[in-house]
Amino acid sequence: MTADAGRSPKRILILGANGQLGIELQRSFAGRDEITALGRDRCDLADLGQVRRVVAEAKPEIILNAAAYTAVDRAESEPELAQRVNGEAAGVLAEEARKLSALLIHYSTDYVFDGSKSGAWVEEDETGPLNVYGASKLAGERSIAEAGGRYLIFRTSWVFSAHGHNFLRTMLRLGAERDQLKIVSDQIGSPTSTFAIASATRQVIDRVTSDAAESADRSGVYHMTCAGQTSWCGFAEAIFQRARKEDGGKWASVTGIASAEYPTPARRPANSVLSNEKLQLKFGVVLPSWEDALERTLKGIA
Ligand SMILES: NC(=O)c1ccc[n+]([C@@H]2O[C@H](COP(=O)([O-])OP(=O)(O)OC[C@H]3O[C@@H](n4cnc5c(N)ncnc54)[C@H](OP(=O)(O)O)[C@@H]3O)[C@@H](O)[C@H]2O)c1
Repeated sequence: MTADAGRSPKRILILGANGQLGIELQRSFAGRDEITALGRDRCDLADLGQVRRVVAEAKPEIILNAAAYTAVDRAESEPELAQRVNGEAAGVLAEEARKLSALLIHYSTDYVFDGSKSGAWVEEDETGPLNVYGASKLAGERSIAEAGGRYLIFRTSWVFSAHGHNFLRTMLRLGAERDQLKIVSDQIGSPTSTFAIASATRQVIDRVTSDAAESADRSGVYHMTCAGQTSWCGFAEAIFQRARKEDGGKWASVTGIASAEYPTPARRPANSVLSNEKLQLKFGVVLPSWEDALERTLKGIA
């Protein structure tokens, strides 16, 4: 008997269907739930009226919002758009979800913190985004909470996958083209695969949707990242180590540099590591180590 046996399929609306997480969520829920998955072409979060119409028409029991303005550096010069998509639209989704008594699952970011803590950040820690993207995601968290419905916000970090735009895919491209790469070594965080996020999301849903009253009690913010931590430089080294082992090829060697030597329009936190203790305590959900998640993702690419 599978874990899904006896469970009734849910009507799930996935937004941001063409992003790296959206693709994985579709894969993870396909076959067991009734999925409507929409990309920006069918539901543009910058168009708040369209967001309301789409949700009202789809009448989902669960909304998985993987859509976001994620261009961290570009957001510095497009703050209004980032705020509308990540801040206001998230609140509109939460209001529409409340009208339907649906559960809204939304993803947020480690960039809501300023990176100054020495240990792992917990959910109750004071936020203090350093950039426009982080501020817009924090605004989204707040507007969801204010809407007063059932919601779960999962803050994740350094997301990678076999698809889309992410650090892993950029490194695999650059590492094959160049002999040497200089990568920032003074920002630490937890690389997290879309597979790990989708699978943890599934496990949480299975625990909450059986009891609506209980899931209302559990509404809130949870950290959801792979276990362990590294720097961007350490992440790049791990990628090339595994790639060399796999194909014996000559991959770039990596030298660590300070963030100051690689200026970007948006400032980024020095310490992005999030504690997952609350997720584990409330839902019994544990994510794999980032190294295992990397191994698994690379096997999918090979
Ligand atoms: N990537 C990370 O490292 C990271 C870290 C922490 C948290 N997160 C959070 O994790 C979630 C998933 O991110 P991801 O990594 O999957 O990002 P992604 O690959 O960039 O996907 C985001 C998706 O949102 C869509 N989108 C952008 N603007 C939109 C709009 N106005 N209306 C509708 N859709 C729009 C994009 O559409 P197009 O394909 O048309 O551009 C894209 O498909 C987001 O909430 C993000 O903030 C990501």
